[in-house]
Amino acid sequence: MTSTAPGPFRVRDSLPLPAAEATLIAGAERHEQYRIDVVPRVEDVLARAVEVLDGRAVAVFVDETVEVLYGGTLLTGLRAAGHDPTVRTVPSGEASKSLDQALAAWHWLAESQLARRDVLLTVGGGVVTDLGGWVASAYMRGIPYVNLPTTLLAQVDGAVGGKVAVNHPVAKNLLGAFHQPSAVIAGIEFLGSIGDRELCAGLAEAIKKALIASPAYWRFIDDHAERLRARDADALLTLVRAAAAIKAALIARDPYELDLRRPLNFGHAVGHALETATGYGPLLHGEAVAYGMVVETSVAVRRGLAPHGLLDDLVALLLRCGLPASADGLPIAAPQDELIAALDKVRLIRGGSLRIVLPVALGETLIADDVGERELREALDATAEVGTVVTQ
Ligand SMILES: NC(=O)c1ccc[n+]([C@@H]2O[C@H](COP(=O)([O-])OP(=O)(O)OC[C@H]3O[C@@H](n4cnc5c(N)ncnc54)[C@H](O)[C@@H]3O)[C@@H](O)[C@H]2O)c1
Ligand SMILES: [Zn+2]
Repeated sequence: MTSTAPGPFRVRDSLPLPAAEATLIAGAERHEQYRIDVVPRVEDVLARAVEVLDGRAVAVFVDETVEVLYGGTLLTGLRAAGHDPTVRTVPSGEASKSLDQALAAWHWLAESQLARRDVLLTVGGGVVTDLGGWVASAYMRGIPYVNLPTTLLAQVDGAVGGKVAVNHPVAKNLLGAFHQPSAVIAGIEFLGSIGDRELCAGLAEAIKKALIASPAYWRFIDDHAERLRARDADALLTLVRAAAAIKAALIARDPYELDLRRPLNFGHAVGHALETATGYGPLLHGEAVAYGMVVETSVAVRRGLAPHGLLDDLVALLLRCGLPASADGLPIAAPQDELIAALDKVRLIRGGSLRIVLPVALGETLIADDVGERELREALDATAEVGTVVTQ
């Protein structure tokens, strides 16, 4: 019934009246696929982006730090390929994942010439891909967007999967949607300029995937931790490609989270609560997830579900990757009462049950919905100092 040919387009229907006793059902199904490219250089990213844009108009939504470093190259390249991009820079940092920034972006788009099938190109870390994706999801009920992730965290995780959101003071990612990107193009060269903390934070999400779903990926990270921290381009390319493949495989089972029992949320119940309790910003998401994984694994060990060796291995790998493996290793104090209050709020939002992913062995998890406050407090106490985490 669809035609893209120019000129008048005739539609004829002859629908019957429904039978009196018929149950009325409206159907809607969507099947989406997109390509993920992991390429070495910024110029490769540009070439692939031009291919994906395929002549459509483009609005560029870019992190301000990234704009300073790579904006010239990217915009010059787009213009050389015949594009006339409109550009909006977003202040760097988690505080930009806000309703205010989204609103400002919608005003910007409304004043642009962008049409329904044109493209929003997001260029930055997870903050910009989450914020830009959500803006794209609502603008004109959803315009296409293409992610150009520039941090390790966004390349191994945030840019893939279509979960887009902004934060609310009450809870992380409270306002959001599912809106799949049309393409993801990760350039390893971008990782040359991210900070050491940001590099390590990205490794946390890679370690998460390894622990929940891939002993082979765990071995790769374990074997290459030092090379990864030294930003060896080949090691990083393998790391990012494998992360994208693992995430794509895991989300393909349930892309719209009809079932909330998701291993990918490992480390995130506690991690997100930690970010909320510390006010979105002082802690990088990956740092919060690293400590969240330690606390949640500690719960599993204390329940007798996982061997203590699993916790020891996790702590050892996190430390080698420059990540916090105990509360005292976090760059900011984690106030326990605020953290428990943030977890209670999530429990309330989720209809009374807080699901926590408990690792049982490499590649195997158990998702519990009965972890109570006392158990959490005990795990938080047990993971307060790195010495106690590995010996208790
Ligand atoms: N949607 C998802 O599935 C998903 C998954 C994981 C994380 N996330 C979200 O991602 C966010 C965190 O992403 P992030 O860690 O990338 O943080 P970020 O976007 O804040 O980037 C971190 C810092 O790096 C800077 N930066 C980015 N690229 C750079 C480059 N190439 N060179 C130099 N500096 C650069 C930014 O300006 C920023 O200061 C969190 O909000 C988290 O909730 C989303
Ligand atoms: Zn995450």
